[in-house]
Amino acid sequence: MRTINKAAEMQDAMNREKSLGKTIGFVPTMGFLHQGHLSLVRESLKKAEVTVVSIFVNPAQFGPQEDFKDYPRDIHRDFEILEKEGVDYLFVPGDEEMYPEGYKTYVEVSGLKDKLCGRSRSGHFRGVCTVILKLFNIVEPDFAFFGQKDAQQAIILKRMTADLNLKVKVEALPIVREEDGLALSSRNTYLSQEERRAALVLSKSLDEARQMVENGERDAGRIVNGMREMIDREPLARIDYVEIVDMDNLDPVNNIEKEALAALAVFVGKVRLIDNTILRVKE
Ligand code: PAJ
Repeated sequence: MRTINKAAEMQDAMNREKSLGKTIGFVPTMGFLHQGHLSLVRESLKKAEVTVVSIFVNPAQFGPQEDFKDYPRDIHRDFEILEKEGVDYLFVPGDEEMYPEGYKTYVEVSGLKDKLCGRSRSGHFRGVCTVILKLFNIVEPDFAFFGQKDAQQAIILKRMTADLNLKVKVEALPIVREEDGLALSSRNTYLSQEERRAALVLSKSLDEARQMVENGERDAGRIVNGMREMIDREPLARIDYVEIVDMDNLDPVNNIEKEALAALAVFVGKVRLIDNTILRVKE
């Protein structure tokens, strides 16, 4: 695996691969890799001839009160993991490489960026879209792989890609979970043992939502109330939002017709966790 730190060098390497007729798969990450990231890497290795992974803890997507400084990092461990998987290129730019002095350009997907997580994390999706468009321009991948774990992020990035006529095909892959249901996240390392147990309330409340739909409930308000009551019973948990929304425009739905996204963000202690599921009505 070749590690590259400079954007220009990455562009040269990709041009060379493309001149050889190779297809390029890309997995952008902030590192501290887990099986969720690796599910994306493995899909890329399957689909594309060359796989590029980036590791960049993107300052532009963290608010001033958020965990940019404390975000877990272990580049040596990540390197070993990716090398073992058979990844071709690891792109690890520094902050000044991505945002040199005088940097002024930002990308926003209006409307979608202010919903769900955007309400409590203003500027977050602007930072995500900006860094991903830059990375897409550097790597120029044929395919890019994202996790459904960050459902809003995947929806926004698909919108950006379509709106800006980018050629890359963006795919969103299923959430990878621990055996007990907790969605894998680099931020899970912040949880104490007690909080780790309490954090199960996220996936449990989504199970409850799916169960309600299966039992014939179609009223989104009643399902949200059921989920909220369950989370409120967990003393270590504090709800940021619980919503059932349209899969395309992220607007709240009243009735679940075919499918809708149930999404939530919950503080467990000081750690903000997100999770979601697609609620499907069986024909
Ligand atoms: P990060 O949190 O490192 O996640 C990188 C990718 O892994 C994202 O597409 C995310 O949705 C996916 N992922 C994380 N946990 C997952 C899980 N349990 N199952 C499946 N996929 C999972 O998301 C980001 O980084 C950043 O915002 C980024 C897109 C890299 C832009 O900076």
